Amino acid sequence: MDKIIILDFGSQTTQLIGRRIRQLGVYSLILPGDTPWEQMPKEGLRGIILSGSPSSVYESEAPKPDAAIYRAGIPLLGICYGSQRLIKDAGGTVAPHSQKEYGRAKVFFEKSDPLLMGIDSGFVSWMSHGDSIQELAPSYKMIAQTENGIPAIVRHISLPHWGLQFHPEVTHCEEGMQILANFIFNICQAKADWSMETYFSQIQAQIKKQVGSQKVLLLISGGVDSSVVAALLLKSLDPEQVHLMYIDTGLMRKNESSEVENLLQQLGARHIHHINASQVFLKALRGVKDPEKKRRLIGDLFMRVQAKEVKRLQIPGAFLAQGTLYTDLIESGKGVGQKACVIKSHHNVRSPLVEAKRQAGLIVEPLAELYKDEVRQLGRHLGLPETIIQRHPFPGPGLAVRVIGEVTPAKITLLQEADAIYLEELKKRNLYNQIWQAFCVLLPLRSVGVSGDLRRYGYVLALRAISSVDGMTADVFPLPMADLLEISSRLTNSLREIGRVVYDISSKPPATIEWE
Ligand code: XMP
Repeated sequence: MDKIIILDFGSQTTQLIGRRIRQLGVYSLILPGDTPWEQMPKEGLRGIILSGSPSSVYESEAPKPDAAIYRAGIPLLGICYGSQRLIKDAGGTVAPHSQKEYGRAKVFFEKSDPLLMGIDSGFVSWMSHGDSIQELAPSYKMIAQTENGIPAIVRHISLPHWGLQFHPEVTHCEEGMQILANFIFNICQAKADWSMETYFSQIQAQIKKQVGSQKVLLLISGGVDSSVVAALLLKSLDPEQVHLMYIDTGLMRKNESSEVENLLQQLGARHIHHINASQVFLKALRGVKDPEKKRRLIGDLFMRVQAKEVKRLQIPGAFLAQGTLYTDLIESGKGVGQKACVIKSHHNVRSPLVEAKRQAGLIVEPLAELYKDEVRQLGRHLGLPETIIQRHPFPGPGLAVRVIGEVTPAKITLLQEADAIYLEELKKRNLYNQIWQAFCVLLPLRSVGVSGDLRRYGYVLALRAISSVDGMTADVFPLPMADLLEISSRLTNSLREIGRVVYDISSKPPATIEWE
């Protein structure tokens, strides 16, 4: 198979580059940025992509590729830091730029180029950088620039080396896929001989081989990820081997627990263990305000409850299956993203218990190389109901990260009610399936209002609705104003404790999807 190597220098989007290449039908392989050229697999190797990085090229400890790749005659594409690396290593200069660019920036060019085939000048790119190329290396020329005059695309004058200051891999970069396709097909001459179907059967065979005749336990959350894992396990193994545990933390959406139970029955599960631990979680969260503390506390408690319940089940040596995705790994600074900066600790990957199971080779993570959209494709392939497939993602720590500040049972109930109303309204208006993720956030803030001539002092509720493909980047979903007004009015009329409703209009980056 033809392949493209991605050298990882710690960017939050390295995995995404790999994903995009696979989406284009070419096998991609992510390797640590400093992998020696001799150790890179050469068979079918068509090109190398140098990822972005939280580092700056002028720092002494900044990660570097093996210089042999520059002389190998193989096509190279540097992205953001990767591009600055190409310029710096060829004798140019890179420096912090007074005009840092985050988010959208228009890219203009005059002359045609194999990398820009089929693309019109003036497309919107997605930037996330503080440094910029200050002086090009003598062997490089600029072929496109941003509206701020910053080099957006550079190219070597004689070698097949290109550099992009922006991130073509993120979904909000117009023409990003076309640029990547131009690189891998026009420049690298790679063949599209890799498909998701091949990957699906690989996953199933892998599960069978890994688990054998042992038992496997899966913590089910009711979301699309764990449901897909449940279906995968039940289809790949004897259902008698599969134990599904649902821990109700009391931080779930309204009616979620009964919906989960129904789904598991539909999937033909034989062993369902439903644990009600809401009192334990709500008590532990008393007085905790800090978001990271909340996340850690919930993660630890979750694992403690899980350990206790697993022990009670008496299935020693069982495998532990998890619905961990690429995004979870990369955003926790685990896996390939060793040099990535930790943005949020996602509780499903960092627990010591999970680590212990991992050390013992007892972790099954069949989705760890997939992005959300691929998981949905897999779910359809496995025949899951569309209501589950289309279900919006839900964070591990649940509503606790959507009640800003201290979590109380009353606030959780209020948020559950508000969330149910918001989602019901979106479904009624056929908006739910157009939105990648929508939810309410309860702010620790009250504001003054008036109703029936009386003073009202209610909470502020934020509504969020975003467009995304994988959760790595997100744009605000442009909810029609008329819908927003009607939804807001229903919320404040039916929930007396809500005094004011606001709509979150922040993209990711710079905001994240969840507020905590
Ligand atoms: P952020 O807020 O980091 O969210 O932009 C990206 C996506 O991940 C979800 N999310 C989580 N998922 N465990 C998870 O499995 C977690 O701890 C967690 N925190 C956030 C979030 O809802 C969004 O879809």
